[in-house]
Amino acid sequence: MKPVFIALDFVDAPTALKFLEPFKDVKPLSVKVGMELFYREGESIIKALRDQDIDVFLDLKLHDIPHTVEQAAKQIGQFDIQYTTVHSLGGSEMIKAAKRGLVEGAKKVGVSQPQLLAVTQLTSTSENQLHDEELVNVSMAESVSHLAKMASQSGADGVISSALENDLIHQTVSDEFKCINPGIRLPSNNVDDQKRVVTPEKAAEFHTGGIVVGRSIIQSDNPVQTYKDIYNAVNGGTK
Ligand code: C5P
Repeated sequence: MKPVFIALDFVDAPTALKFLEPFKDVKPLSVKVGMELFYREGESIIKALRDQDIDVFLDLKLHDIPHTVEQAAKQIGQFDIQYTTVHSLGGSEMIKAAKRGLVEGAKKVGVSQPQLLAVTQLTSTSENQLHDEELVNVSMAESVSHLAKMASQSGADGVISSALENDLIHQTVSDEFKCINPGIRLPSNNVDDQKRVVTPEKAAEFHTGGIVVGRSIIQSDNPVQTYKDIYNAVNGGTK
């Protein structure tokens, strides 16, 4: 089944856990914890979620020298979480180091190792920025598919991508390579600051490996029902 990660973009644990209270009988339930919440609460928010048997995607987008990333990944590997992220722009040695760290950390405490997802180009990076600021002379599509291939060859289990890039990534890497897609909106929603958005149904048509949804669920009048509707749209079933 393809997970629908609810982006817990809240300022602190009490607010996030209160939001999740109506979801207590919803299974499976997957959430994404980002920098905002993790930097405030640290491991305690992860424990609180795992105690409720909620799958956790810890989105910290590591990007540093390989040794530092390996040591950080070793800590993350001990959290008993399901997914975490690095920036592929840190390079192949850094991605391999992240993978080693996750494997070692998980082994140390006897939990499953989190899947490693690589960010290719941030969806906030424009084609102009790529050319003018980073002096990258290939197109965004070429850069994204190249970075996805490099990430896969370095041990990443998948990438974070726009659903619109999934086909290209699958063609370049393999059909099995996981593309996790943010930038999801329901037809009735505002686009907000996201630029290239798709509906959950479209993401499924584009062979998504799972989607990340923030505001469409959090700001909904009935978050549990909206989560179930989105989960069904992505997985073609009834929940
Ligand atoms: O509210 P919305 O559905 O736009 O939230 C999407 C979530 O996915 C946010 O937590 C955002 O930081 C994250 N994200 C993204 N684009 C990426 C990577 C992560 O929107 N490329």
